Amino acid sequence: MESDFFLNRRSVLAKKMSAKKIPEGDIKKILAAGIRVPDHGALNPWSIKVIQGDKLKFIDQEIILSEFKKENPQANENQLQIESKRLQRASVVIVVLSTPIEHPKIPEWEMILSSGAVCMNLLSCAQSLGYASQWLTEWYAYNNKMLEYFGARKNKDKISGFIYIGHKIEEPNERKRPDPDKIISYL
Ligand SMILES: Cc1cc2nc3c(=O)[nH]c(=O)nc-3n(C[C@H](O)[C@H](O)[C@H](O)COP(=O)(O)O)c2cc1C
Repeated sequence: MESDFFLNRRSVLAKKMSAKKIPEGDIKKILAAGIRVPDHGALNPWSIKVIQGDKLKFIDQEIILSEFKKENPQANENQLQIESKRLQRASVVIVVLSTPIEHPKIPEWEMILSSGAVCMNLLSCAQSLGYASQWLTEWYAYNNKMLEYFGARKNKDKISGFIYIGHKIEEPNERKRPDPDKIISYL
């Protein structure tokens, strides 16, 4: 890994990645790094679903496209085309669910933050291995059928992110970054 990795790290849009297969060993490594996060009380208030192979197409067809059609009966062919291949843009999609528990001392907010840390670790690890990766939610992260499919508890568990992982087709351009002087102050 280059020493300035975190200064140069950049996401690659899912629509710009190739879905060629990723070696199993790299997926295992990304997952192992992903769950190595700060977690107050070691509660593991998150869970992970790995979607690859035929399951990408299955979820695209049976959940994303079918729910989109239900909610958008007037949708045109172009829109349906996009929805029919959402997950198939990637080789692997890792879903991070926030699954907070009741705890006498640790606030739910901290459990939710920890699930964001899992997303960021997965993303960074995939990118550090040279893969194209993007953290997305899009509309279907908030869809009830999708949440049910992943076994989420109603009104409790949430999808923190879909971490799309594929191969780079080209190097991404830099995007606008925050002005440090506007957001950081030294006291
Ligand atoms: C929780 C979360 C959800 C996101 N969902 C979307 C989304 O639905 N659509 C989108 O275009 N970008 C979404 N993004 C932004 C992308 O991840 C984008 O690639 C990222 O901001 C690029 O940052 P980077 O280059 O520093 O990695 C989301 C980001 C986060 C943190």
